[in-house]
Amino acid sequence: MEPLIVTLDGPAGSGKSTVAGLLAKRLGLELLDTGAMYRGLTACCLDRGIDPASQPDAAMDLAKRVSVRFDWGGHPPRLYVDERDVTDRLRDADVTASVSDIASMSDIRMVLVKAQRQIAEHHPRLVTEGRDQGSVVFPKAAVKFYLDANPRVRAARRAAQLRESGRPADEEKILQQITRRDHRDANRTDGPLICPDDAIKADTSDLPLDRVVDLLEQKVRQAVGDRLGPN
Ligand code: C5P
Repeated sequence: MEPLIVTLDGPAGSGKSTVAGLLAKRLGLELLDTGAMYRGLTACCLDRGIDPASQPDAAMDLAKRVSVRFDWGGHPPRLYVDERDVTDRLRDADVTASVSDIASMSDIRMVLVKAQRQIAEHHPRLVTEGRDQGSVVFPKAAVKFYLDANPRVRAARRAAQLRESGRPADEEKILQQITRRDHRDANRTDGPLICPDDAIKADTSDLPLDRVVDLLEQKVRQAVGDRLGPN
């Protein structure tokens, strides 16, 4: 089968992860969660006593030395950093609070962008989600999407996700964190969060996520239906 890359970028809580997972399933493509890779490196630093904000050099040094790989046998794939399974660490509050420090380091982005392109060589039929997938990592992707939603809706979604996974969630605090993370993600020099000119933009504030998936599936089938299997 020929390669087919669909990118899905957008801010925290825009529904990206849920939508990307469902879309990949419906289209028969694999899923790459690039946020997990930034989170995995963050967890690895924190667990070795390195604070990315105050010790950026040590964080960068570590990030360049360790391996970051998915085990594609799992659903969703499990993430190994330096051969340690960090999947259950990825959504912890300390990781979420520090991940944009890691993501703002250009050297670390270079390492992960390269890793993401290598993954696509082995898994060439992908829905890939993140902040820079359509703009930097896969500029020639077959179809690009940019999801957005208003900050209150995004905070409510994140809170619901956390509660579902049995973690405490204070919506006001999440709103502040999301706003801070968005600001950092949008204002860094390398791979900032932007909507590529050739991306299809969807505001998910007032749409249930399964409707968003319907919409995106329809757009992909219109654009590259001949490269997909039957509905
Ligand atoms: O999508 P998720 O919330 O898991 O992403 C966590 C963080 O990783 C984002 O806030 C962003 O700082 C960083 N990230 C990134 N580029 C990507 C994916 C995630 O900078 N492609």
